[in-house]
Amino acid sequence: MRVQGRIRVPGDKSISHRALILGALAHGTSRVTGILRSADVRNTAGVLRGLGVNVSSLDDGVVTVTGNGPRALAAPAADLDAGNSGTTTRLMAGVLAALPFSSRVIGDASLSRRPMGRVAKPLTEMGAAFAFEKGDGLPMTITGGALRGLTWHSAVSSAQVKGALLLAGFAAGVPVEVHEPIVSRDHTERMMRARGVDVRSEGTTASLLPGADLRAVDAAVPGDPSSAAFFAALAAMARSGEIELDGVCANPGRIGAFRVLERMGARLGWEDLHDAGGELVATLVAAPRLLRGTEIVADEVPSMIDELPVLACVAARADGETRVTGAAELRVKESDRIALVVKNLRAIGVDAEELPDGFIVRGSDRPLAGRIETEGDHRIAMAFGVLGAATGGAIEVDDPACVTVSYPDFWTDLAGCTHAVA
Ligand code: S3P
Repeated sequence: MRVQGRIRVPGDKSISHRALILGALAHGTSRVTGILRSADVRNTAGVLRGLGVNVSSLDDGVVTVTGNGPRALAAPAADLDAGNSGTTTRLMAGVLAALPFSSRVIGDASLSRRPMGRVAKPLTEMGAAFAFEKGDGLPMTITGGALRGLTWHSAVSSAQVKGALLLAGFAAGVPVEVHEPIVSRDHTERMMRARGVDVRSEGTTASLLPGADLRAVDAAVPGDPSSAAFFAALAAMARSGEIELDGVCANPGRIGAFRVLERMGARLGWEDLHDAGGELVATLVAAPRLLRGTEIVADEVPSMIDELPVLACVAARADGETRVTGAAELRVKESDRIALVVKNLRAIGVDAEELPDGFIVRGSDRPLAGRIETEGDHRIAMAFGVLGAATGGAIEVDDPACVTVSYPDFWTDLAGCTHAVA
C-alpha cells in the first residue's frame, strides 16, 4: 500500500471541550474556530445548554459561547447527558460541584461503567455532595455549593481529574493544588492562563490562585494529535509515499506517540512549528521505513494514552517484540483497551498477550484477516481501520460508525490517502 495525501485532521477534542466550558464560565462572548464537530463535543455543548448557556450550533463556522461567570449557570430542568464522553462528565463535575443546586449526570452504557470516584472523592473533600446509584459510575447526582480549597495528591495521572479540580477552584473562588504521579496533558492550565486566571504549572503540580475572572477570548482550535496519530501510523506501515498533516497541535504532553513511531523507525518531520494562542502547532510529515519493536514504560504513557491502541497495531507489523507497561488506565477508557486490543489482534492472527498494566505484541508480516469487535470504542475502530488499510483490507470493523465520537470523517480521510500498489 502506498500513502499519499495532505490531511487537515479535525480540531483537538480536549481543547474543544475546554473552549466551550471556559467560554461558559467567562464574562462575554467567546468565538471558537476549528472546533471538533463530533459526538463528544456536542455532548459538552448540550450539557452547557442544559445549564442555560447560550452555545451556538457547532456546525457554524465560528461557534459562539456567551457566559456571565459561574454564578449565571442555572439549575438544569432535566438530566445532563454526557453520552460517551468521560471528559464532559469529569470536567463538568468540577463545575457542577461549585454551583448551588443539584444536577443528575447520565451517559451511555460504556460511560456508565467508567469510574467517577476519582473526581467525586476530591470534590467531596472540597464540600460538594455526590450520590451514585450504582458503584461509582453514572448516573450520579452532584449537589454543589460553597467549596473550600484543596491540595490533592491524585493516585492517577489524569487531565480530566486535574481539570475538574482546577475548574471547581475557579468556579468557587478557592485555591487548588493538584499533584500527579506523572504530568498529564496541560490544556486546562494553558487555556485558563490565556484567559487571565492565575494557574501555575511546576513539574507534576498544577495550582490555581483565585481572584481573577475568566476573559472571553477568540480562539482557534488546532488539529488533534490523537487523530493525526492514526495517519502517522498508517504512513509508518505503508510501502511507500508520504502523508502531510496540517495544523496539528504539538503540545509536548500530547506527542509521545510520534516519538515512539520514530523510535520504531518511521520517518517523521515537524515543519513550520509555531505558537498559536498558547499551544505549539505544526505540520507533521510522516513516511515509512523498516519498523522494529520497542518498549513503552509508565513515564511516557500519559503523553500517548489515547494512541496506545494504534501503536499496538503498528507493533503488529514491526520486527520483534513491543512491550507496554504502566498503562493500567487503558482498562478504564471507553472500553478495556488492554483486553480489547489483545483480543482483536489475536482474532486477526497477531501474536499478542495481556499484561495487568499493558500488553506485549510480537510483529510479523503474515497476512492478517478477521472481524474486529469494537464495543463501540472509536479508537479501537480507527486503530484497526488503519491496520486493515495497511495490510490489504481483509480486516473488517463491526461498528465503523462509532468513529463519530471523535472523528466523523475518518473513513473518508483514510480512503483518500490510501492507494493500492501493484
Ligand atoms: C482527556 C484526558 C485523557 C484522555 C481523554 C481526554 C482530556 O483522559 O484519555 O481522551 O481532555 O482531559 P484521562 O484524564 O482520564 O487520562
